[in-house]
Amino acid sequence: MMMPKAGKNWDSLEKEMLARGEGDAKWREGKTAVYVFNAGEEVTEVQKKAYTLYMSENGLGPAAFPSLNQMEQEVIAMALSLLHGPEGSCGTITSGGTDSITMAIKAARDLARNEKHLVGQLNIVIPYSAHPAFDKASMLMELEVRRIPIGTDYLADVDAMAKAVDDHTIMLVGSAPSFPYGLIDPIIALGKIAEEKNLWLHVDACVGGYIAPFVRMNGINIPDFDFSVTGVKSISADLHKYGYCAKGASTVLFRTEALKQHMVFDCKNWPGGRMVTPTLAGTRPGGAISAAWAIMNFLGIDGYKAKQKAVCDAREIIEKGASELGFEILGHPVLGIVAFSHPTLSIFAIYKQMFLRGWVTSLTTEPKALHLMLSPFHLTVTDTYLEDLKLSTAQVESGDTDAVTESRYS
Ligand SMILES: Cc1ncc(COP(=O)(O)O)c(C=O)c1O
Repeated sequence: MMMPKAGKNWDSLEKEMLARGEGDAKWREGKTAVYVFNAGEEVTEVQKKAYTLYMSENGLGPAAFPSLNQMEQEVIAMALSLLHGPEGSCGTITSGGTDSITMAIKAARDLARNEKHLVGQLNIVIPYSAHPAFDKASMLMELEVRRIPIGTDYLADVDAMAKAVDDHTIMLVGSAPSFPYGLIDPIIALGKIAEEKNLWLHVDACVGGYIAPFVRMNGINIPDFDFSVTGVKSISADLHKYGYCAKGASTVLFRTEALKQHMVFDCKNWPGGRMVTPTLAGTRPGGAISAAWAIMNFLGIDGYKAKQKAVCDAREIIEKGASELGFEILGHPVLGIVAFSHPTLSIFAIYKQMFLRGWVTSLTTEPKALHLMLSPFHLTVTDTYLEDLKLSTAQVESGDTDAVTESRYS
């Protein structure tokens, strides 16, 4: 497409943009359980307003924008207070989970190089269920990734991971929870190994960091998974997932300032003067920071507790309904992700029927299972989901898979 010679007016552009969105997943109706976190209209409004207030400002310049700097510090302080950050712990807002994970690995690698004087091929040891962001970051930094098979409980196999460690391992990883199964790895046991072997343990709480603390406050028993486990050196926790903040916002947190210092990039060998950046980004969108600060203050502990209760209630209703239809829940999820397999029927065929009924959700491949990452809004559509699941399952069972004729998003 060529750039138009003359600019167009906003009204016509807005119309065209809205028309383009008509083919997108109808997440506002609750039929999407991946990519988007729907905490309701009120939260969306605050996100939008708070984002636009600081949309043009740049987190790259904390001295120019002390407002953003203060908001970032306060977001990090709130994050650390939720995740048992000890005295001296610290962190930074990043653009997302992949960014947070990359920066934690960079810090661990530079610590290994600078303080342990490790050279040659370095590696990280992660459970098979860990997010591909670890592979991406390792590819960038030329690290070897040792993905270790998980147990039959879908959790990290701590003994197998310990055996995979050698004197060139720079990091151990556990997820809280893993994306495919929504289950929290045994972080306490991983922490013990990390301490015994003097290793950096990173907890990937991208998807759990801002839900698990509130689920616990709501009375559900969750084993320690954060800085309360002394072997944990860093945590990634995404604001733009269960923190319900605008997209482009995560947190990477460190047990000490000394650890975090290995993340920071500092360069003065160019004519523009010294440039110090905490994360991979140069320019850091002010809106992502201001929206995060606003949402955390808008919801507060009570608001998050209520939203996360709605998520867990939705999950429990769906778990019960799916079990009654013959599905098997993978493990015992306690947060917002649930995956369920079927002992006899083709999961992919059921997925297709659900997709034709407008549901945009995920799948796991080992075992083949339907996968939902639920939002508070889903509590209002559990009946519809289970009805559609019943119909789809019956169709696949009877081989009558041509029956759905409605459009994808009807
Ligand atoms: C457990 C986990 N880690 C990391 C990520 C990566 O986050 P992002 O997509 O924000 O880069 C995700 C994304 O779903 C995730 O679920």
